[in-house]
Amino acid sequence: MPEQTSLRPLMRDELLPPSRSNRRHLISIKDLGRPDVERVLGLARTFATSLDRDVKKLPTLRGRTVVNLFYEPSTRTSASFELAAKRLSADVMSIKSSGSSADKGESLKDTALTLGAYDPDIVVIRHASIGAPNVVARHVDAHVVNAGDGKHQHPTQALLDLFTMDEEFGSIEGLHVAIVGDVLHSRVARSNVQALVLMGAHVTLVGPPPLIPRGIEALGCEVSHDIDVIRDADVVYVLRMQRERMQAGANFVSSLREYTARWGVTAERLASGQRVMHPGPINRGVEITPEVADSPESMIQRQVRSGLVVRMAVLYDLLTGGPVAAVAPSAIREVA
Ligand code: NCD
Repeated sequence: MPEQTSLRPLMRDELLPPSRSNRRHLISIKDLGRPDVERVLGLARTFATSLDRDVKKLPTLRGRTVVNLFYEPSTRTSASFELAAKRLSADVMSIKSSGSSADKGESLKDTALTLGAYDPDIVVIRHASIGAPNVVARHVDAHVVNAGDGKHQHPTQALLDLFTMDEEFGSIEGLHVAIVGDVLHSRVARSNVQALVLMGAHVTLVGPPPLIPRGIEALGCEVSHDIDVIRDADVVYVLRMQRERMQAGANFVSSLREYTARWGVTAERLASGQRVMHPGPINRGVEITPEVADSPESMIQRQVRSGLVVRMAVLYDLLTGGPVAAVAPSAIREVA
């Protein structure tokens, strides 16, 4: 399927990086087939059982090293990758670009080469540039997980959203999900459309024309510029207005106040029983009212909890690639 017209297209060698070994990476939802998604969700369900225990740490990745390299602000994603690795007993190094040698002008390639000298098993990277995870994969002999590259992809967010919906509805197949708001700047929207369509959901993107990329229907979704259509969905998935990714001077919406009036998700715009999701961070009173964000229909905190077990599953799956059934008993053994 064609990539977004608004994105610099990735070269084929970037999509399939010639890394130094045959290590598997998670860079895009497009890397995954349905059985891969089902395997990761199954693993996440297994790991979820460990959350109810007094001792939550598992020995599964003892002796492995995970590097978290974050070049963009993050609370949920960085915290959950760090906790996921710790819960699996891996050694974890978490590096934020601010305060690191990136501040002194070190390039991503040189940072990757430097961290590669410690022989990490997995590098998790978030970066403002599309294709940054591919750069790391090319220079470090480790599995690479994309924790968000520019407005391109955020595959673990899509997987944790699938997990949350699957837990709530019992299946993704046939669900109707309306994704509302700033789709243009959203790696979350792009990854979620691909993941939901892969798993048999029906997706409608809703928002003002300047915030919906032209041609996005090619991903297998519908587009509507009428906010009232969200009432027909099982899940209303709200996106943040990503002002930091909007080009200076570009006039995507005339004002935030007008955006809120026309496109904000309010209780009045929802039908009863609809579930509401948001990847966070939320801008209360901009794209979503506090009343909706804090309502019983909101699954926002459940998404955060899902993020932990899904990232445990992704780390585990990359390092083992084994079928869920074969790993489950040892994967959930507690640390002695
Ligand atoms: C998202 C991101 O960074 O892409 N947040 C997240 O990972 N939870 C969405 C956003 O920033 O709006």
